[in-house]
Amino acid sequence: MKDAFDRDITYLRISITDLCNLRCLYCMPDGVCRKRHEDILSFEEITEIAAAAASLGVKKLRVTGGEPLVRRGCAELCAMLAAIDGIEELVLTTNGTLLPRYAGALRQAGVRRVNISLDTLDPAKYSRITGGMGRLDDAVAGIRAAQDAGFAPLKINVVLIGGFNDDEIPAFAELTRRQPIELRFIELMPMGGRFGPEAYIPVGTVLERVPALTPLPDDGGVARLYRLPGGQGRVGLISPISRHFCASCNRLRLTSEGHIKPCLHSDRELPLRGLHGDALTEALRAAIAAKPAMHGVLDADHMSAAGRGMYTIGG
Ligand code: 5AD
Ligand code: SF4
Repeated sequence: MKDAFDRDITYLRISITDLCNLRCLYCMPDGVCRKRHEDILSFEEITEIAAAAASLGVKKLRVTGGEPLVRRGCAELCAMLAAIDGIEELVLTTNGTLLPRYAGALRQAGVRRVNISLDTLDPAKYSRITGGMGRLDDAVAGIRAAQDAGFAPLKINVVLIGGFNDDEIPAFAELTRRQPIELRFIELMPMGGRFGPEAYIPVGTVLERVPALTPLPDDGGVARLYRLPGGQGRVGLISPISRHFCASCNRLRLTSEGHIKPCLHSDRELPLRGLHGDALTEALRAAIAAKPAMHGVLDADHMSAAGRGMYTIGG
C-alpha cells in the first residue's frame, strides 16, 4: 500500500523483545525494565499482525529486539513468519553472540539473511562498548556460525563512534578484501545513550580514511555501496543523520508490546493489541497513512523524538 507521499510500504520491522544480553553504551547502558510476559505480544499475535501487514503489501519482515535471540522460541516464531502468504523475505538483526546456538535453527526456519552488530575488533573495547557484558570471541563465533549455516551475504553493522572506533575504520574496511561480507558503517543516532553530539561523525569520514573505496551501483537499500579494489565484499555507508533516506522510506515498525510506529523518530504510535480481522487491517492502513514525509529536526545536537530507546523499537 502507498502512503500519502507515494512511498510503497513493503517492509515491517518487528521488535520481539526489549531485553538484551548486552548493554551497548549507545543503546541501553542502564539495562531495561523487564516487562511482564503478558505485556509482550505472543507469537500468535505477532504472526497475525504480520499477516495483516502482508495483506496490505508488506513483503519483507525483519525480526529485531533488543536482542531477538534472547526470547525463547525465536526460531519457531521465525518459521511462523516465513510461512505467511505474501512474505518473500524474512531477515533478522542480532548482536551475534547467541548465533553459535541458533544459526542452524534460524536457517531451517526460513530466515534468509542475518545482520550482525560488531562495533570493534578489539576484545577490551568490545567489553567496554557492551557495558562489560560481551566477549568479542562470542560475536566472532556467531559470525562464523552464521557463515557455516549458509547465511550469505552476511551484513556486519558498525555504529561509528568518534573517539571510540573511528581508528578502526581501515581495519573494518579491510575485512571486505577477502570475505564476501557487507560491512556497513552506521551514523550514531541521538537516541539517548551514553554518547553526546561530540561522538557523532558522518559516514563520509570512511571515504576520507579509506580513499581506495570506489562506488558501486545502488541496490535499492538504505546503504550507499563501495568496494575495495579486488575486494570480495563491499562497504556500505548508512547516513540517517547526514543524508537521511526519508524520501524512500518503505517501512513500519512494531514494538514488542504491540504498538505500530509509522516513523522511527516520531513518538506517534498506534496500539494494535486486541484488534483482529478488518479492525486490525484498518489500524495498519491508518499507520501507513500517518507516515510523515520526513523526521523532524534530527542531527547530532537534537535528540530523536522517538520517545523511547532504540532497544524498544528495534535496531
Ligand atoms: N545509533 C545508531 N544505531 C543504533 N542502533 C542502536 N542504537 C543506535 C544508535 N543510537 C542499531 C545499530 C546496532 C543495532 C542493534 O541497533 O545498528 O547495530
Ligand atoms: Fe543489545 Fe543491540 Fe542494544 Fe547492544 S545495541 S544493547 S546488542 S540491543
